[in-house]
Amino acid sequence: TDIEKGTYPHFMLKEIDEQPFVMRKIIQEYQDENDNIKLDSDIRQAMLDTDRVYIIAAGTSYHAGLVGKQFIEKIANVPVEVHIASEFSYNMPLLSEKPLFVFISQSGETADSRSVLVRIKELGHPALTITNVPGSTLSREANYTLHLHAGPEIAVASTKAYTAQIAVLAILAVDTAKAKGLDLDFDPLKELGIAASVMESLTDQKEVFEEIAKEYFTETRNAFYIGRGMDYFVVQEASLKLKEISYIQAEGFAGGELKHGTIALIESGTPVIALSTQESVNYSIRGNVQEVAARGAKTCIISIEGLEQESDTFVLPHVHELLTSLVSVVPMQLLAYYAALHRDCDVDKPRNLAKSVTVE
Ligand code: G6P
Repeated sequence: TDIEKGTYPHFMLKEIDEQPFVMRKIIQEYQDENDNIKLDSDIRQAMLDTDRVYIIAAGTSYHAGLVGKQFIEKIANVPVEVHIASEFSYNMPLLSEKPLFVFISQSGETADSRSVLVRIKELGHPALTITNVPGSTLSREANYTLHLHAGPEIAVASTKAYTAQIAVLAILAVDTAKAKGLDLDFDPLKELGIAASVMESLTDQKEVFEEIAKEYFTETRNAFYIGRGMDYFVVQEASLKLKEISYIQAEGFAGGELKHGTIALIESGTPVIALSTQESVNYSIRGNVQEVAARGAKTCIISIEGLEQESDTFVLPHVHELLTSLVSVVPMQLLAYYAALHRDCDVDKPRNLAKSVTVE
């Protein structure tokens, strides 16, 4: 590859650092001369025509899809289902009358997603691909494409593609809302710009996350991440990042679901990382932290300005409540990176994994 790491020890760290620039690039690419959203009118029409969006993706892109569902439902008022590509192929749900399929794929080459695309095209349904590689298979074979503009992602563990996917999904949702004449109480491109600056402040404090990673992840065999609502989707991505590159057995759980089984796994010293960025669940997630702490867990709370408490391990600067995933994932990426680094793992090329999986 002719992409260079430059002064970075690993592509993953470089790509984590590139995220604020990718946000700004996306804002630029999706903004017209009047600072409004610029989006292909055919895509806008497809969003207006559908009665239900079906998001299809794998891995990290699936996790971005979970966040995207919240945007499209809450901002644009269109129902959304999110499906794991490899499951959808063999267990097709009952479809609505006018489905629109949205494929999210960094590479645009994931075979599981392509097999769904082939099936739904046979059925005559329209497809939009959101990808980092416009000439890719999923892009060429879909009716429409939205480009992530993240630049080549080399590290196997996806970072900047995830945040780019979330930003583009937010733009898509807002564009649809505007086309439907819905009232919006925020300027999405401005809020994305704020998120970019916050990302930058986080990547400027790497030592903080390196210390947390050393403290929580150097010795452990397993780790749990908990969150509710939007934070639940981010902790699923957080645990995937940790698993992929540090080989620590990790799971991301919905805070309220812990007591229904998983809490049995908590022992003295088990790391539990909690995320709290949503006002409506701030109180309840903290209750879940107390439940595991009472059973000996080594807890860490990452919260956000306005919701913080004194004992929190780290407080994220404020961003719009719908866009918290863009910034809350950055500490999670850095925790996984430093956990892998201090466990002497091959950060950019973890065992058994491929950047793009072109077999079903
Ligand atoms: C592989 C990669 C993951 C990625 C997934 C989906 O498993 O290791 O990092 O999230 O494929 O890839 P895609 O290119 O479709 O987003």
